[in-house]
Amino acid sequence: MALEFRPLHGAFAAEVIGASADLRVDDAALRDIEAAWFRYGVLVFRDLDMTPAEHVAFTRRLGPLHIMVPSEFNLPDFPEVWVVGNAEENGKPLGLRGAGMGFHTDGEDKIVPNAGSFLYAKIVPPEGGDTLFADMRAAYAALPDDVKRKIAGHRARFSRADMHAINYPDMRPYTPEELAARPDVYHPLVRRHDKSGGVSLYIGRWACDIEGMPKDEGRALVAWLQEFARQNRFVYRHRWRDGDAVLWDNRCTQHCATPFDEARCTRLMHRTTLEGEVPIMA
Ligand code: SIN
Repeated sequence: MALEFRPLHGAFAAEVIGASADLRVDDAALRDIEAAWFRYGVLVFRDLDMTPAEHVAFTRRLGPLHIMVPSEFNLPDFPEVWVVGNAEENGKPLGLRGAGMGFHTDGEDKIVPNAGSFLYAKIVPPEGGDTLFADMRAAYAALPDDVKRKIAGHRARFSRADMHAINYPDMRPYTPEELAARPDVYHPLVRRHDKSGGVSLYIGRWACDIEGMPKDEGRALVAWLQEFARQNRFVYRHRWRDGDAVLWDNRCTQHCATPFDEARCTRLMHRTTLEGEVPIMA
């Protein structure tokens, strides 16, 4: 059966209709999914019932898989699956609590960020714990012309060292060894998608200032761009149901986890992550 793609937020994000629950789709359907992923940036699958092996197998057909480091919350038998949430077994956390708060794009703090991610809901709370997705192509297109001129040809500095205390105020500071393993990286603020050719604003929560601009000016502009990009008109809010999975394109979207009542509810998610490429300046 041919798949259908039902747009969810204008030209951004779509629901996939007609895929089997285990996502063992044929090659033609996979090509349609890949084309829709590039087109809509975010694809929502409903009522899935995937084993970790099926989750990994489907994602691997879209590209090489990334294994998250540190590996503490990777499934022992499937290290390509990273576990997120507050679920515990025998008093031991199964996944990373509080992951993904603050708008970001996966791997933005690395030289080679991740192309995409595929998050599968195993257990979701009745309320809260939504994920927000921002359309960075639309955000770029809507920027005032003077801002487009200002950022053209510039790279932002993404820094764990400078942003750790801001993004994770409750976590201990990095050790010198941890910091040495996470040096600052620079990425173009205006990024061309290597597959679709689309142009996006490329920014996230580890961006702190702009190469070649005075620090204060760069910091203020980064903050302004982040604020601009997360306006409701660019954002699709995904309210999770058990069995949902969302495939997003990190090259042209940002996402942000939202809180839920962690004392009373459980949220357990499995994520696979795709390797990417060095961002191309548009
Ligand atoms: C993530 O940033 O990958 C996690 C998002 C979420 O759990 O909603």
